[in-house]
Amino acid sequence: MHRLTDILLILTFALASLGAGFYSDDPHIYLLTPRNFDKVVYNTNYTTIVEFYAPWCGYCKQLKPVFQKLGRFIQGNAKYAVNVAAVDCDQDVNKPLCSQHRVLHFPTLKVFRPPKFQRGKVSTNKHVPEVYNGQRDLAPMVEYLNTRMKNYVKKFHSFSDSLGEWLNVDDGTQKAVIVSNSKTISPLARSLAIDFLDSLSLASVSLKENNSSFEYEGIAYDAPVSDSDQLPVLLAYDKENRKFVRYNGNINSMSKLQKFLMKTLNIVPSEGHLSKRDKSLKKYRGVPLKDEL
Ligand SMILES: *[C@@H]1O[C@H](CO)[C@@H](O)[C@H](O)[C@H]1NC(C)=O
Ligand SMILES: *[C@@H]1O[C@H](CO)[C@@H](O)[C@H](O)[C@H]1NC(C)=O
Ligand SMILES: *[C@@H]1O[C@H](CO)[C@@H](O)[C@H](O)[C@H]1NC(C)=O
Repeated sequence: MHRLTDILLILTFALASLGAGFYSDDPHIYLLTPRNFDKVVYNTNYTTIVEFYAPWCGYCKQLKPVFQKLGRFIQGNAKYAVNVAAVDCDQDVNKPLCSQHRVLHFPTLKVFRPPKFQRGKVSTNKHVPEVYNGQRDLAPMVEYLNTRMKNYVKKFHSFSDSLGEWLNVDDGTQKAVIVSNSKTISPLARSLAIDFLDSLSLASVSLKENNSSFEYEGIAYDAPVSDSDQLPVLLAYDKENRKFVRYNGNINSMSKLQKFLMKTLNIVPSEGHLSKRDKSLKKYRGVPLKDEL
């Protein structure tokens, strides 16, 4: 009897402390502490939005469903190289973190932008923190985060010899091309480039006048794409045979796109859903209560 009461008591405490944080049962949001903050926020080419909050504050309660929607949206479709994270400033262990980041009121939303990565160069640049003061709604937050993602995609205005030169440069990376008629480089393309930052170079090419043929170093190239296709189209470049390999799956499935690149070009992503890094960081995201028990 005695034992059972003890166990029940411990369980009750465990549940209470699990339930204390807003997001402890949310698999899309990183629960930050002084121990994992650097790993999640700084040791990455992803942009991170961090909510510093206290569970008792009214505006925090208002923000909660919006922030959870943001987490679902960002993590769910994986088209943004963005992490969604939260710090419960009411927990004693987190208080140094909240004062270090000069959190004066709740909630405070901070966005940490990663430094630019340059292959072969060691960067001493740090992440840049910014306070997000915009509207606390899904669309404006996503739009803002989109502008805070780095762009590593090279833009070409047509299929031409300068694309040929870029495709064949020997810099230790594989090459792929997103064919698109959009003026801007999509979050999906930028996110793909970030996930494969150390193994893939990605270009965005416009299909000008329905012409995907060009010549480089005496070799004729004919990319398998035309304006009767639904754009964007992803093409991996087979360097050895100087040919394009077209991806024919769903362009909106980030994991299928990545698996295609992994298989065709024999590369692995350094970040994002399919990376080892993501697996090792998963334990810092909230877990649904039912899975935990
Ligand atoms: C960015 O990615 C590159 C390549 O994977 C890696 O070497 C570098 O450490 C990353 N930057 C940060 C800040 O983690
Ligand atoms: C297609 O573009 C290439 C390179 O830009 C050019 O050399 C070629 O003449 C063009 N072909 C047509 C049919 O316009
Ligand atoms: C563009 O080229 C493709 C194949 O090369 C052709 O099927 C299509 O009709 C062309 N579109 C136009 C507008 O000429």
